[in-house]
Amino acid sequence: MKVAIIGTGFVGVTSCVVYASFGNQVIGLDVDQSKVESLNKGKVPFYEPKLTELLKTGLNEGNLKFTTTYEEAISEADVVIVAVGTPSASDGAIDLSYIANSVAQAAPFLKEGAVLAIKSTVLPGTLAQVKKIVGNLTDKKIHYASLPEFLKEGTAVDDTLYPDRIVIGTENKTAFAILEELHRPFQAPILSVKPESAQLTKYASNNYLALRIVYANVLAEICEKTDADIDEVIEAMGYEKRIGKHYWYPGLGYGGSCFPKDVKALAHFCHDKKIVDNLFSFMTQFNTNRPIQVLKRLEKVMGSFAKKKIAVLGLSFKPNTDDQRESPALAVIPALLEAGAQVSAFDPMVKKIADAKIANHSHYKQEMEIEGAVKDADLIIILIEWPQIIGFDFAKVKANKPQFFFDTRGQFSLKKIQDAGYLYLRVGRQF
Ligand code: UGA
Repeated sequence: MKVAIIGTGFVGVTSCVVYASFGNQVIGLDVDQSKVESLNKGKVPFYEPKLTELLKTGLNEGNLKFTTTYEEAISEADVVIVAVGTPSASDGAIDLSYIANSVAQAAPFLKEGAVLAIKSTVLPGTLAQVKKIVGNLTDKKIHYASLPEFLKEGTAVDDTLYPDRIVIGTENKTAFAILEELHRPFQAPILSVKPESAQLTKYASNNYLALRIVYANVLAEICEKTDADIDEVIEAMGYEKRIGKHYWYPGLGYGGSCFPKDVKALAHFCHDKKIVDNLFSFMTQFNTNRPIQVLKRLEKVMGSFAKKKIAVLGLSFKPNTDDQRESPALAVIPALLEAGAQVSAFDPMVKKIADAKIANHSHYKQEMEIEGAVKDADLIIILIEWPQIIGFDFAKVKANKPQFFFDTRGQFSLKKIQDAGYLYLRVGRQF
């Protein structure tokens, strides 16, 4: 099948290489010339495991290429998939301008009978808006569908190759038949639902997962103020089949490009529709406050952060990605600097912190090795559970002075860190 994919972010590039790996002829389209050039040379402009290998295979086998030209990408495509970003507007609403713009530019080149599928995260009602835009720009018969994506950064390739389900939202039989054929090789359950259900499923899934994390962190906060231990609580609750132990480890809150934006978007949508939005608004509020609340308590334990040397380990929003969007580091480091601390940071993949104010701050330094960052630190904060950080031998860098070790991801053994001589504190345990 001939497939065009508009947008070459995480979802776009991953979709391109995966559809190409199943023998489809795929063209990825992006307005960013340098991105397209680098993709055509087999270089992925961000870090995502396994993506480069599949990209190179697709390019070498001749069934994958990238272009900046709508005509080249769209005019022969049987299926056009829109995977552009849907960022948050300043009031938390979703900004559909990239969608509107890309479908309007594609419309004149769509061939008769093509399927136009929206993979970007959009709220119920968006497909009708897309139909209207495209319908005003072409007389050809186009079949529309909503095709949400559920991949995670860091495991994007495997999530796409082996999805739990494919959700096709359309009431158009041709669109469903073509998309079903395209997705048959994935060997996953294919669900046929209304476009609005598909769109809401994406938000409902992300908001539910974010809610589990908020819930874990509310419980963690209770544990931090009592003698209960969050790990024991989650373990004991998780035996209950209806609950499970997966996907709700505590921390400083959810980050990344999706949960923060999608929770805000659903809150805004509910507010607009006059549906009570307290739940989603509370989630954003709690999640935003969480790092600050935790730091306040940590500062009390230490007396003050002023003039302390603090090592911050992990700058991405989670392991196996160099994506820093809404990372805990971007909330924690400014608060530490504000409190007068001297911050030295390390990340195995992020070579420069995204916030220029932090990068240029005279009390901030980024080190290329963990040893440099933690040397003589009064406090070591583990923000992200990168294997390189968890596997590091902190005993060998223990200085001859009291040093706090704050584990925000619950990854280290109390005994091991205490035996090394650190004062170990952990999210979800009293401190
Ligand atoms: C998320 C969803 O998991 C995907 O299903 C969805 O397709 C994607 O958003 C999207 O909408 O594009 P992603 O943002 O890549 O994927 O990352 P996750 O692994 O879900 O983590 C999100 C945040 O929650 C991270 O900050 C992570 O550290 C945090 N988290 C995750 C926790 O604090 N506790 C957990 O138990 C799990």
